Amino acid sequence: MNTPSTILSAIPRRLHMQPNHPLTITRQLIESRFPGYETHNTLFPIVTTRQNFDSLGFPPDHVGRSRTDTYYLNKDTVLRTHTSAHQADTFRANESEGWLISSDVYRRDAVDRTHYPIFHQMEGARTWSRAAVEKSGKSLAKLIYEDTEKIPKHNIDVQDPDTPFHASRNPKQDPHSVEEVSAIAAHLKRSLEDVVVAIFAAAKTASTSPSISPDQPTPDDDEPLKMRWVEAYFPFTSPSWELEVFWQGDWLEILGCGIVQQAILNNASVPDRLGWAFGLGLERIAMLLYGIPDIRLFWSTDARFLTQFDATAPIKRFVPFSKYPACFKDVSFWVRSTPASSAAGGAGIPPPQVSSPASGTATTPADAAAAAAGTLTGHDFHENDVMEIAREVGGDLVEDVRLVDEFTHPKTGRRSMCYRINYRSLERTLTNEETNELHERLRCDLVDKLGVELR
Ligand code: DAH
Repeated sequence: MNTPSTILSAIPRRLHMQPNHPLTITRQLIESRFPGYETHNTLFPIVTTRQNFDSLGFPPDHVGRSRTDTYYLNKDTVLRTHTSAHQADTFRANESEGWLISSDVYRRDAVDRTHYPIFHQMEGARTWSRAAVEKSGKSLAKLIYEDTEKIPKHNIDVQDPDTPFHASRNPKQDPHSVEEVSAIAAHLKRSLEDVVVAIFAAAKTASTSPSISPDQPTPDDDEPLKMRWVEAYFPFTSPSWELEVFWQGDWLEILGCGIVQQAILNNASVPDRLGWAFGLGLERIAMLLYGIPDIRLFWSTDARFLTQFDATAPIKRFVPFSKYPACFKDVSFWVRSTPASSAAGGAGIPPPQVSSPASGTATTPADAAAAAAGTLTGHDFHENDVMEIAREVGGDLVEDVRLVDEFTHPKTGRRSMCYRINYRSLERTLTNEETNELHERLRCDLVDKLGVELR
C-alpha cells in the first residue's frame, strides 16, 4: 500500500463527468467523432495488476509496475495507470464493434504545470469479425476499406513516411495478412486524424475570442495544422504508432495507438475479431483547446474557473483570473544510504554509490524510522517520493518541484540533492507564514518518510 488518502479521496470527483467541465466538453467533442461507438465512462478505478499489466502483455519486470511509479492498494491491486486496463474485459463483453472508455487514471510522477498524479484518458477500439465478413463473400480488408471511406475526409498535411508495418522495427502479427494490416492501419489513421482536425478546428474558433494573456498557449493562426505519424512500441499493439501535431514550434505527441495484439482478443474469447486501439490524454488536449496554463486548474472548484466553460456554446479561450506570486524555497539533503540487503526490489535504479552507511552499521536510525514509516520505503531514493511528499504537504499549492543541484561527496561517496519547491496558489496570494510552515513540514516529512539527512 503506497496510496495516500488524498489520492483516494479524489476518486469520487470524476471530473470527466461533471457538466460543463472542460474535460467533459473535450471528451464529448472526441466522442462525437465516433458515431455508433459504445461509451463507458464510469468504470471503477481500482483494478488488479492482472488487468492493468498482465492482460496487456507487460513483462514481469516492466518499470511501470514499480512502487515508485504506480499506486498500489495491496500487492495485487492498483489504481489503474491507464484506461488500457479495461481493454481485455471490454473485448470479452463483445457488445459492440467500436467502444470508447474515458476515466481517471493514476500515476506517481513529477510535479509541474503539466503533471498531476490523477489525470484522464480516453481509450478507443474498433474490431471486425473475420468470419462474419467472409461469410458474406467479401474479404475483410475490402470491407474495412469501405468503412474507411465513411470517415470524413480532410485536406490537412499529414506526414506518414513509414510503410504500414516494418518486419523488425514495427512488425505485423503472424495471424494478420498484409492486406488486413494495411486496411486496419488506414481505418485507424483516418479515424484519429479526423479527431485531431475536429479539435483544432474548435481551438481555432476559440483563439479568435478576445482576451488572451501573454503566457497562455495559443494556436498560431497563420500556421496551418500539420500532423505526423511516428512508429512506436506498446506491449499491447503491433504495429504501433504515435500521432504528433505541430504546436507552437514543436511536435507534440497527442496519442498512442496500434493494431491490437491478437493474444488479447484470443484471451478475451473473441479470437475471430481483429482491429485497432488507441489511448489519449484528455488534459493535454483540453489544455491546448482552451489555453489552460496549469493542470491543477482542472481540480479547481473556484467559480472564476468553472463558470468559463459551457458545453452548449462554441469554445472560448480560458481567461486566467489572476497570476498570484510564486514563492521558491529550496531543501537540500543527504540521501539515505541503503543497506545492501534492502536494495533489492527497487525500481531498477542503481543503488547510491556508497561503500557503507556513514554510521558504519548496516541499519541507521533513519533507515529504521523510514522502514517503520512504511509506505515510501522498500526501495532506494526515488525522485517520485519527493514529489509525493511535496504534494501531500502542499496539495495544489505546490506548482512545481525540481532538482536544482546534485553531487556525490568525493570522500564519503554520499549523495546530496537540492530540490526547489515553487509554492503558488491559483486562487489567492499565500502568506509568508503559510509557505514557511508548509516548507518546514515538507522538511520534516522528508526526514521521517525517506530517512534523508537535511543539510
Ligand atoms: N495506455 C497507453 C498509455 O497510457 C496509451 C495507449 C497506447 C493506449 C497505444 C492504446 C494503444 O490503446 O493502442 O500511455
